[in-house]
Amino acid sequence: MQGKVALVTGASSGIGLAVAKKLAQRGAKVALVARGKANLEEAAREVARAGGGAEGVAVFPLDVADLTALEALPAAVVGKLGRLDVVVNNAGVNHRGAIQRHTAAKLAEVITVNLTAPVVLTRAAVPFLERGGSVVAVASIAGMVPVPGEAAYSASKAGIRAFCRAIADDLAAADVHSGVVCPGPVDTGFFGDVSEVPNLVFSQPMSSADEVADAVLRCIDERLDEVAIPAQSGRLATVAYLAPSFARRIRPMLEKRGRAAKAAYIASRARK
Ligand SMILES: NC(=O)c1ccc[n+]([C@@H]2O[C@H](COP(=O)([O-])OP(=O)(O)OC[C@H]3O[C@@H](n4cnc5c(N)ncnc54)[C@H](OP(=O)(O)O)[C@@H]3O)[C@@H](O)[C@H]2O)c1
Repeated sequence: MQGKVALVTGASSGIGLAVAKKLAQRGAKVALVARGKANLEEAAREVARAGGGAEGVAVFPLDVADLTALEALPAAVVGKLGRLDVVVNNAGVNHRGAIQRHTAAKLAEVITVNLTAPVVLTRAAVPFLERGGSVVAVASIAGMVPVPGEAAYSASKAGIRAFCRAIADDLAAADVHSGVVCPGPVDTGFFGDVSEVPNLVFSQPMSSADEVADAVLRCIDERLDEVAIPAQSGRLATVAYLAPSFARRIRPMLEKRGRAAKAAYIASRARK
């Protein structure tokens, strides 16, 4: 990564921050994107300490749902950091529960942030990306097998997963790699109110943001189409997607396992 420039959305916390720090540790300059300016500036200080100092980091506070601002971003990054090699489409949002609980605008936000924004940013980045570059999205196991109670989120993550796979041939013509990373549950602030998270989500082993960031770096380094983390959850999700009757049969067992894991997680958070 020495001498390369990476753009990471959702870089002020969780997976995005962990990815930015690892890229900086390996010598890349990093452009950090999120809405909250104060958190983004704090993240930039962390990334600078992890890597090549303050000159190796730039912040671009914006809402990825602002598609006009997003389209202008790759040119701004090249203007500030000199080139563009890697784009990590990581910013995401989830509004959980039955769709009737949410306004149309809230549901549309899930699709815009998780799917439309990465499509728009990838399109805008292509003319600037160096040969040997990479575009990677952070999707979800919920994009491999739909999760009840997270319908719009599952749809957005299935969509971005399909986009990353479909765009691979187009980008390969410019020697740019396209990949997608699909994590199961990850211990970040993304859960929000944990009681709202479906038990099914907790039926899979929890990863750390650092472990997912390692998967993102591996996806880039090895130019992989897709990485599921944990790998076993990816295999189970694929089988469950292909065989809905099998998925229905194992669901009570997974719900039971998830209920216990969720209670243990809530208890461990209360102790912290
Ligand atoms: N945690 C999990 O269990 C899990 C599992 C599978 C997949 N994922 C995916 O992993 C990705 C990262 O999630 P995380 O767990 O690291 O969550 P997180 O810790 O809550 O971080 C989310 C990041 O995205 C930024 N963000 C959110 N909405 C944005 C917007 N509209 N425009 C620009 N930035 C925005 C946030 O900053 P601001 O709020 O300041 O904008 C923050 O930097 C998401 O795409 C999520 O769907 C997470």
